[in-house]
Amino acid sequence: MSQNFKLYSQYYDLLYKHKDYKAETDYLLELIQNYLPGAKNIIELGSGTGKHANLLAEKGFQILGLERSPEMVEIANQTKKDNVTFQVADIAVFKTDQSFDVALSLFHVISYLTDNQSLINTFSHANSYLNKNGLLIFDVWHSPAVHAQVPEKRTKILKDEKIEVSRYAEPIIDSERNIVEVNYTIEVKNLNNEQTLTINEKHPMRHFTKPEIELLAYATGFEVLHNEEFLTGANPSGNTWGVCYVLRKK
Ligand SMILES: C[S@@+](CC[C@H](N)C(=O)[O-])C[C@H]1O[C@@H](n2cnc3c(N)ncnc32)[C@H](O)[C@@H]1O
Repeated sequence: MSQNFKLYSQYYDLLYKHKDYKAETDYLLELIQNYLPGAKNIIELGSGTGKHANLLAEKGFQILGLERSPEMVEIANQTKKDNVTFQVADIAVFKTDQSFDVALSLFHVISYLTDNQSLINTFSHANSYLNKNGLLIFDVWHSPAVHAQVPEKRTKILKDEKIEVSRYAEPIIDSERNIVEVNYTIEVKNLNNEQTLTINEKHPMRHFTKPEIELLAYATGFEVLHNEEFLTGANPSGNTWGVCYVLRKK
């Protein structure tokens, strides 16, 4: 598995400063309320810089965030709330004797698990540390949208008072493995001295169909309760890039 979110981590919050974590957290709270009212503690798989975890903690949940990138955990720890713990861990390997009501994995973290064994391990381990009827909620890239829209080269530019970050994304499509390898070139311009730093990272992303998730759920002791477009709740289609799944431990 490739290492990513190293140097990139320093620019992550700037690149996603318009992402509405508050609205996403409200959306997740509604799903949890619908499918497991009374849930108290959450394990977050791939917690990044900790934005969802902190907002959920403000609502009274106890949270353990697992994150593979130590750089992301270091950033997350700078704003950590009292009832949150962040831990450097690979979600495909992590096991614990603790138990949780809900496992969340947000913003396509599961799509970063590109091989079957990592997916089976992650879901099986989640099954072992979830309480009876516990939920596994995650969003993934949706194969029908990848086929209908075909990923293209994209540029994103954002700046703050010190730096301007330009991110160029070049996708390579591996249609035999349902993977899109997104090659990022990130140019960071220091606005004081005009010097530029260039970072390259590969982000291989797997996309999924509903029957594939159903099979994975079945093989790892879950049932699929629901799926819908992340955040809007619309029925998934060729226009839906991110689909949210709600699984329940059987
Ligand atoms: C797009 S970011 C999402 C971060 C956060 N959930 C958010 O919504 O901002 C994907 C994150 O998943 C993490 N990740 C990917 N594979 C992982 C793994 N096997 N174990 C733990 N974390 C992983 C990456 O390091 C990265 O921080």
